[in-house]
Amino acid sequence: MEDQWKTYNPNGSKRVIVTKELPGTKWLDILQESDCRVDVGQSRDIVSNEEIKSTIGEKCDGVIGQLTEDWNEELFEALNNAGGTAYSNYAVGYDNVSVDAASKNGIAVGNTPGVLTETTAEMAVALTYSVARRVVEADEFMRNGKYDSWLPDLFLGNRLWKKTVGVIGAGRIGSAYARMMVQGEHMDLIYYDIYQNKQLEKDVKAFAKFLESHGEEPVSITRADSIEEVLKTADVLSLHPVLNDKTFHMITGKELAMMKKDAILINVSRGPVIKEADLVEHCRNNPDFRAGLDVFEDEPEMEPGLPDLSNVTIVPHIASATRWTREGMAVLAASNVAGILNNYPAWEDEDISPFLTDDPPKAAPSIINAQADGVPSNSG
Ligand code: GLV
Ligand code: GLV
Repeated sequence: MEDQWKTYNPNGSKRVIVTKELPGTKWLDILQESDCRVDVGQSRDIVSNEEIKSTIGEKCDGVIGQLTEDWNEELFEALNNAGGTAYSNYAVGYDNVSVDAASKNGIAVGNTPGVLTETTAEMAVALTYSVARRVVEADEFMRNGKYDSWLPDLFLGNRLWKKTVGVIGAGRIGSAYARMMVQGEHMDLIYYDIYQNKQLEKDVKAFAKFLESHGEEPVSITRADSIEEVLKTADVLSLHPVLNDKTFHMITGKELAMMKKDAILINVSRGPVIKEADLVEHCRNNPDFRAGLDVFEDEPEMEPGLPDLSNVTIVPHIASATRWTREGMAVLAASNVAGILNNYPAWEDEDISPFLTDDPPKAAPSIINAQADGVPSNSG
C-alpha cells in the first residue's frame, strides 16, 4: 500500500487524504498551510472503497475524493469514526455521494462549481460541431489515406446557423452552452427546466433586440412545458440535468423516436440520463441522426456497438478538462476541506471567484449540506 500513497507534510497536525493526484500545486499549499499532513493516492486506477476505508484508518480529518468513487454510508461512517468532518468531491456533480449519509455522520460535503461552467459548455459545443460537420469521421478518412479527390458530396453535414437548439436542464452549464450556440449561430433556443431561467430569457431577448437593431433576423427563446416539446423541435439537443431518480433514463428509444431524423444529441452531463443501448439502436437505424457523448452509462465501459457507429463521437469524460479548470477545481476542493477543518463558515455567494485569488475569503467555498443539522459549517 505504501507506494500507492505519497505523503506531504508528514508532521501536520491534521490528516487529509486525496485519492488522486490533482493538477497544479496551489491545492497542496492550501492544505499544508492549514497544518494538514496530506496523503495522495498515486494509482491511476479507480481506488476501491475497501482501499479508501483502510487508508482512512483510525485518524483522518478530511478527504478529497473522485466521481469514480462510491461515497456511501460505509465510507462516511469510517471517516466519522476516524474523527473526520470534511469531504469534497473533485467535481461539480455529486451523484456518487450519499449526502444524507454524510450529514448523518456530521460530515460537510463540498463540490467544485463555477470554474467548470464555460469549460464544460465548450466541450458540448466542440462535440456539436464535431458531429454536425463529421470532423472525426473525416479525420479518420484522411489518416487512412482515402482522400483521392475533392468531391461535391464528400462528408456532407448539418448546418447549424439559425436552426433550433434545445437544452434540457438550463443551470449554469446548460445556459452557458445555450448562450454560445444562440450568440454564435443565431439559433433559436427552446429549453426545459423545472425552474424558469429568467436571466437567460432576458439575455436572449436582449440579443434578439440587438440583432433587430442591426437589421438582422432576431433569435427567440421558449421555455417548453414538456421534454416532448423540446425533443420534437430541436435540431440540436444538449442534455444538462443533474442525475437523480427522475432524470435516470430520461432519454430512451421512445424519446429518441420523437426527435428529428437528422437531429444531433449531445451529452456532457451524466451517462445514465440516456439509456445507452437504445441510443446505439437508434443511431444504427438512423444514419443521419448523430450523437456526441462525453459520458457513458456504465463508465468506463461502453455499450457494445457504440464504438462501431460512425455517426457518434465519443470522448472519455473530459468536458471539464482544461488546465485552468482542473487546477481551479483542485483549489476549490482543497478550500472546502481546509475551510471546514479551520472552522470557517460556508460561503453563501454563488460567485466563488474570490477563492481563486491570492487573498481568498476565510470560508469553505461550496458546501452542499451546509444547512443540515450537525454539519460543522452550520453556524445556525
Ligand atoms: C464532472 O463530470 C463534474 O461533475 O465535475
Ligand atoms: C452546474 O454547474 C449546473 O448547475 O449546470
